[in-house]
Amino acid sequence: MSEWAVKCSGVTKTYKTGGQSTYALRGIDVAVRPGELMMLVGPSGCGKTTLISVIAGILDRDEGECTIFGEDFKAMRPGQRTKFRGLNIGFVFQQFNLLPTLTAAENVAVPLLINRENRGHAIRRAKEMLERVGLGEKVNSLPSRLSGGQQQRVAIARALVHRPRLVVCDEPTSALDHVTGERVMDLLKDVALEDGRVLVVVTHDQRIFKYGDRIAHMDDGRVTHVDAPEPANETMGGI
Ligand SMILES: Nc1ncnc2c1ncn2[C@@H]1O[C@H](COP(=O)(O)OP(=O)(O)OP(=O)(O)O)[C@@H](O)[C@H]1O
Ligand SMILES: [Mg+2]
Repeated sequence: MSEWAVKCSGVTKTYKTGGQSTYALRGIDVAVRPGELMMLVGPSGCGKTTLISVIAGILDRDEGECTIFGEDFKAMRPGQRTKFRGLNIGFVFQQFNLLPTLTAAENVAVPLLINRENRGHAIRRAKEMLERVGLGEKVNSLPSRLSGGQQQRVAIARALVHRPRLVVCDEPTSALDHVTGERVMDLLKDVALEDGRVLVVVTHDQRIFKYGDRIAHMDDGRVTHVDAPEPANETMGGI
């Protein structure tokens, strides 16, 4: 097995819309070890969402190399890619992307159903995961009946329910208060990192930096440097 769970070298991505080009990724070099929580931080528009979308096989890179667990999405046929993603990746979207006509439990069950698990079993597992994010009372609610923070926790439960090898979270605590945010990060670490699994978390929230094993700093489409978080007491000092 590769030494790296995620390895990107020289990754570029340009969006072309209406004759205009936006250079979102300008040569990304970053790698994540098995069992590691990598934080990804940087100013708005620097390419964080684009990078994790390439890592998770949602977007195709233009140039460079990117493998996860030694596999390259670009080398896969569309069917293979969907199957690999369904089995191995959990993704928490910045805008949550819950399906509005499905209840919380049905939303969380989606990855299990895609992987052809029995429906009754999938709904049971989904309800258990919702309990773990503190939403046991809301399993039958539609997303429109939930607060922003509750919707975000449904999205997190959905990313974890199939126990993927790589969980990628885009601002997973943006709608949560401090206590709930810490609870969610504890759960993410518990569920997403066992057995050499990997977690990549995009965040602006300095309060959760301390959960990272390492922090990759991005600016203008590049990873400028990677360091370790400051000890928790120092990070908390300014709050
Ligand atoms: N679908 C798209 N079409 C065209 N340009 C895009 C698209 N998505 C992102 N961009 C542009 O690519 C650049 C990187 O965007 P990206 O969403 O990756 O940034 P980000 O670091 O996640 O920002 P934020 O912290 O605000 O979420 C930005 O300049 C953005 O305007
Ligand atoms: Mg973003």
